[in-house]
Amino acid sequence: MKLRWFGHSAFEILTDENSKILIDPFISNNPSCNIPVEELEADLIFVTHGHADHLGDAMEIANRSGALLVGTHEISVFFSKQGLESEGMNIGGSLRFDDIKVTMVDAKHSSDIDFTDEMTCGGTACGFIFQLENGRKIYHAGDTGLFTDMKTVIGEIYKPDIALLPIGDRYTMGPEDALIAAKWISPQKVIPMHYNTFPVIEQDPNIFKEILEEETSIKVIILNPGETYQEY
Ligand code: NI
Ligand code: MN
Repeated sequence: MKLRWFGHSAFEILTDENSKILIDPFISNNPSCNIPVEELEADLIFVTHGHADHLGDAMEIANRSGALLVGTHEISVFFSKQGLESEGMNIGGSLRFDDIKVTMVDAKHSSDIDFTDEMTCGGTACGFIFQLENGRKIYHAGDTGLFTDMKTVIGEIYKPDIALLPIGDRYTMGPEDALIAAKWISPQKVIPMHYNTFPVIEQDPNIFKEILEEETSIKVIILNPGETYQEY
């Protein structure tokens, strides 16, 4: 499995079976990403909520590469109205694709589609748990504040191996709450996201890493935008 970070909350998962998955592909307006959006294609694109820094280039990439878009029921209806192929789901539900099972989980955030003339309701914000063929689970938290289901539902029931957690503060958890989230979820590895894209979410991920690795056995992987984390 290869996990590439484009900065902000935008990730690409390349599975061992060669499925290409994009999550929150905010590429062309992402100041921390210097990869041209034209270079990206996907089989599946997951969107955690309707904000422009997450929905991003999802429709352009789907339109060009024929990717299936997946989001909440409301965001899926929006995609369908744009003539794009889309599957909707909701919190607690799972969908199976060729070599991946995806479960939608809660997130404490808003989700209106904020770049349409009048804001379009995007339902609720969410996170996703991606279960690969080998059983490994990756949790993408989306934009969220700290919430107790991270401990009881995500940590104790879904048990992800890798957690992608926002640390930027202001619009999501800041580093202090993300430390608590990481302890509650208790994955093997945490990759911080949603920081340093804009001045208002500036954070030093090294401080987060130092504290979490000192207090737990969780390993923090700090990626640079464009960098890939590979497993096996
Ligand atoms: Ni947001
Ligand atoms: Mn955001």
